[in-house]
Amino acid sequence: MRKKDDYPQLFTFYCHFLEKLSNVQGSINRTLCKMLLTDGLAIVGGFIVVLLLLKLLWRCWCGFRQFVLSEIWQVDLRTYGQWAVVTGATSGIGKAYASELARRGLDVILISRSTDKLRMVAKEIKDQYGRKTRTIQVDFTEGQSIYPLIAKELQDLEIGILVNNVGMTYSDHFAYFLEAPDAEQVCFTVLITYYMYLDESDVVLHWTGLIINISSQVAVRPQPLLCLYSATKIFVTYFSQCLQAEYKSKGITVQCVVPFLVSTNMTTLPVNCMVKSAPGFAHDALNTVGYSTYTSGCLSHALQSVALSVLVPDWFLMSSFLIRQFRKLAKQRKQERKAQ
Ligand SMILES: NC(=O)c1ccc[n+]([C@@H]2O[C@H](COP(=O)([O-])OP(=O)(O)OC[C@H]3O[C@@H](n4cnc5c(N)ncnc54)[C@H](OP(=O)(O)O)[C@@H]3O)[C@@H](O)[C@H]2O)c1
Repeated sequence: MRKKDDYPQLFTFYCHFLEKLSNVQGSINRTLCKMLLTDGLAIVGGFIVVLLLLKLLWRCWCGFRQFVLSEIWQVDLRTYGQWAVVTGATSGIGKAYASELARRGLDVILISRSTDKLRMVAKEIKDQYGRKTRTIQVDFTEGQSIYPLIAKELQDLEIGILVNNVGMTYSDHFAYFLEAPDAEQVCFTVLITYYMYLDESDVVLHWTGLIINISSQVAVRPQPLLCLYSATKIFVTYFSQCLQAEYKSKGITVQCVVPFLVSTNMTTLPVNCMVKSAPGFAHDALNTVGYSTYTSGCLSHALQSVALSVLVPDWFLMSSFLIRQFRKLAKQRKQERKAQ
């Protein structure tokens, strides 16, 4: 039988026991919490990795469809209508689009500013592909006054495709905003994409056809020293993407093409593994119709776009160092051109 003196000892023992128990419980709780946290983080991490892998796979599949499968299965562009309109069609990318469209069986309307060149290209296309051609001579720097004329010439024709290609960049490549000699004209020719719809909305936005707007890779990220050109091209990109979203249900497809370098009068660069020839580019870009409404146009440009976005961070693109390098390059090219 317990003595009365044993009670305080028993009490101390109980307290001790309870303290130990709560310590053990605490450490179990902490271990459980830790386990839950690490497991939770592992699940979230795994989920993110799977999501990124799926995204990568999806992009690879889209690229494969756009640039490889499209070489085998092409959309029959004649289903859009008999005629295609191409602006800036006397040289470079525009001329290449016009020729490629004619090769694929469409009649073409060429729009540009020089009558002689228009006649020459129209004859070339007629002789080579036996398609009908029409020409419209306008200067897009003249502003809105030219659009009623274009609309009049396009009336009564079954127009299936419009390629808004015309555009200029500064005559001095890579110039500071205040030094660009022809900045206003650059804006005008690029923004023609917008005016085409404003003044011809009756014609254009009542089609069930295809509109191809030529933007540029310099619109993907801001490009110092091509300030206005880059800004107007991102306008073309957003404008095209919004139009596509708004009008796709009405049967209009708007495709935005964002090329890298193409060998034309604008770039004066020779063709190489990075610089595409204009006919090669137009061929590949037209293959992407029906596969994508926003495209680099060809595989090499798509790869360059991915590589640049990974390798060149925004801060470097915007840095004074790079601006100085571009300026040096521009001066060097100007001197070379003068020497030729
Ligand atoms: N080349 C590239 O690397 C590159 C890259 C990205 C985006 N782009 C874009 O692709 C489009 C075509 O460029 P490109 O390199 O093929 O240029 P390009 O070789 O200089 O050809 C431009 C075409 O537009 C016509 N044009 C120019 N100004 C005009 C005006 N004010 N009014 C009427 N027609 C005019 C020219 O006619 P004339 O023959 O009478 O001058 C020519 O047919 C442009 O929108 C450009 O921004 C080009």
